[in-house]
Amino acid sequence: MPSPNHRAEIPFLPFARPDVGEETADAVRDVILSGWLTTGEQCRQLEESLAEVVGARHAIALSSCTAALHLSLEALGVKANDLVITSPYTFASTAEVIRYFDAVPVFVDIDAVTFNISCDVLEATVEGLAAGDQSFLPPSVRDTVEARTPVALMPVHVGGVPCDLDGIYKLASAHRMAIVEDAAHALPASHGSRAIGAAVDVDVPSTACFSFYATKTVTTGEGGMLVTDEGNIADRIRLMSLHGMSRNAWTREGEDNSWSYEIVAPGYKYNMTDIAATLGLGQLARVNIMRDRRAAIARRYTESFARLEALETPTVPDNVESAWHLYMLRIRPERLAVDRDRVVSYLQYRGIGTSIHFIPLHLHAYYRNKYGYEPGDFPIATREFEREISLPIYSGMSDADVEMVIDAVREVVLECSR
Ligand SMILES: Cc1ncc(COP(=O)(O)O)c(C=O)c1O
Repeated sequence: MPSPNHRAEIPFLPFARPDVGEETADAVRDVILSGWLTTGEQCRQLEESLAEVVGARHAIALSSCTAALHLSLEALGVKANDLVITSPYTFASTAEVIRYFDAVPVFVDIDAVTFNISCDVLEATVEGLAAGDQSFLPPSVRDTVEARTPVALMPVHVGGVPCDLDGIYKLASAHRMAIVEDAAHALPASHGSRAIGAAVDVDVPSTACFSFYATKTVTTGEGGMLVTDEGNIADRIRLMSLHGMSRNAWTREGEDNSWSYEIVAPGYKYNMTDIAATLGLGQLARVNIMRDRRAAIARRYTESFARLEALETPTVPDNVESAWHLYMLRIRPERLAVDRDRVVSYLQYRGIGTSIHFIPLHLHAYYRNKYGYEPGDFPIATREFEREISLPIYSGMSDADVEMVIDAVREVVLECSR
């Protein structure tokens, strides 16, 4: 195997690249020259379009998915020492927002097939906590925090593959827990006939939070969107997204008494700009075209790797449609003479950018130190992380780009198989 330090003299294929056309770039330019840059008509249109695309009742454009997750917990009234369940197999945001309230993130291990939270372990955890079993709490808070029913569940649709929402909604309803879906990867995705973010038939409060970060399936550079069925949650989130002010700049501008507003709560500065929203409108208009291209790339990868025993290709459950935000390939360490990191280095040497999703949260210093977690506490998350590699999958990739990735992966696997 060639030295990974030796970079080949070939063009580099990045791991991700936004697919933005000239038309959208022109529209953004027009907005920049229009004289109105911050939250306004473009944001309103983006909210309307997204609500229509996914079938949501209320949609609120925000500065990030992290902001949407944060405001969701705020609107639900999460407070210190409340228990909120999520997956350790996620990005920093999902659990950090729980900590913003001094609430306790309770991690639940994942399903080895999908990387999503395991519904069986989730059910056992909720029931154990509801019965007062301290052993379901993070190790270091078992003496100080009381085991009881969690206030909310935060499932994450990892890579764009929807979680088992039937099981999650049923459990949430039975125990009166709110649901905050981390749908950062899941636009557009569906569970059965229902799009992620669509109005949902569940009798507990719920929100879903999308990310428009630069690498996501729909991007505004930085941005996010919160959807919910409940008018009172939507109203609270709108209020808190802009300083807790009773009227924002856009509504003030359009009225006679334009200088006046009232601060009714200590809110945040989480609004989206019209510049970003215009980019988002161009993206949203092509959301299905871009997804179809990613799905085609995924199919090509999977058929090309199917016979390589050292690899495990992603499985999408029958009743869901993935957004294909990520193509999460796994190596089978027992069949390969090199580890995952060496494969990543080799692909880098061959000019291919990759990423790893995710370093599970319980392995990070903060969660280890704060909650006393050990790697073995979530063995499936730890094991799957160690063998995962995310390959480039974006609509701007040419067929030649896709074949270049396939050739490089096949080469390293054939050379190093055992
Ligand atoms: C699973 C998950 N949740 C939340 C986020 C946060 O999104 P944002 O960067 O829009 O705040 C990300 C971003 O990468 C993510 O991957």
